[in-house]
Amino acid sequence: MSQSSTNQGIKFAYWVPNVSGGLVVSTIPQRTDWSLEYNERLALAAEKAGFEYALSQIRFTAGYGAEHQHESVSFSQAILAATTKLKVLAAILPGPWHPAVLAKQIATVDHISKGRIAINVVSGWFKGEFVAIGEPWLEHDERYRRSKEFIEVVKGIWTQDHFTYKGDFYRFNDYTLSPKPLQKPHPEIFQGGSSRAARDNAASVSDWYFTNGNTVEGIKAQVDDIQAKAKANNHKVRIGVNAFVIARDTEEEAKAVLADIIKHAHVEAVHAFGSAVQEAGNASPEREGNWAKSTFEDLVQYNDGFKTNLIGTPRQIAERIVALKAVGVDLVLTGFLHFIEEVEYFGQKVLPIVRELEAAKAAVQETALEAVA
Ligand SMILES: Cc1cc2nc3c(=O)[nH]c(=O)nc-3n(C[C@H](O)[C@H](O)[C@H](O)COP(=O)(O)O)c2cc1C
Repeated sequence: MSQSSTNQGIKFAYWVPNVSGGLVVSTIPQRTDWSLEYNERLALAAEKAGFEYALSQIRFTAGYGAEHQHESVSFSQAILAATTKLKVLAAILPGPWHPAVLAKQIATVDHISKGRIAINVVSGWFKGEFVAIGEPWLEHDERYRRSKEFIEVVKGIWTQDHFTYKGDFYRFNDYTLSPKPLQKPHPEIFQGGSSRAARDNAASVSDWYFTNGNTVEGIKAQVDDIQAKAKANNHKVRIGVNAFVIARDTEEEAKAVLADIIKHAHVEAVHAFGSAVQEAGNASPEREGNWAKSTFEDLVQYNDGFKTNLIGTPRQIAERIVALKAVGVDLVLTGFLHFIEEVEYFGQKVLPIVRELEAAKAAVQETALEAVA
């Protein structure tokens, strides 16, 4: 894959398995492991396969199984140390993190990694976790109002000297961070959800919007909504969508793997997760959040990754990725059952077809433009 095609093409990220149990709430045997040693090997394999980003998770206590959870910033730093190209996204939860600590921490990691760190600001859906660590639990839209202030403040600290801010959640007085991050204007800021509040933050302050898996039509509706609002706000935002990828030589094999994952679902943990996520978008005024319409089967991949349907042969998957791009998706966030070997298979079998289809589409568009001119 040439560098230029990477730059123009849809981008790929993978979930860092920094929590135990892999990406599915299932007792199916998995070769994915949450150790640093496994993650270092995975990061190198992903970098080689053509992935540009790796996304860590932040969990303070078990949420969907995931009994053990490594912390996101320090784990991201370790992955950066093991790699040379990959950009690593550290997941950040306002509340536990104060923006002054985060801004300083990430500025330093940016220098150490030579400009390869980014953040994913998450707003919290898991009340039990907040209660366990003695953090006040805000109601849904207040959490997003705090995330918005958090992002505004972090951007301000990263880009301005003598930063002053008087918000409801954060106050800064003539504060100057030094050194500032290497990346200009600042490390990229991702933020996720699906509710009205999550989309409004994307349309006003985030560089990237992350959402759960969904159908192409479902994603299109979100993209259209966000991009119309972003345009009105004179703000630029890009879109990333989650997908659990099961790529196999035949469609039957891929579907059989999905059936097996669901057959072995950890029923108790899926139900507990299903109850906990009622605190997410279902607790928002419009009740349109990430998991508002998720079935039991959907929840077995805890970010609705089966719904995106990147399950089939390499060609079927590539075609569906190109269809996502056509409705305005800029990045596909991937999860896999047996991470290392499947990331390698994806790089060898799926990605080249995606680039082929993108090139063919670009050629058709160019011909059409020439005909018009
Ligand atoms: C791609 C992606 C990654 C996320 N990572 C985390 C995470 O690491 N920790 C966490 O507590 N929440 C995480 N979230 C949850 C979101 O921050 C948010 O709380 C959730 O999507 C509910 O959004 P809603 O209230 O808009 O429906 C993630 C969401 C998405 C889409």
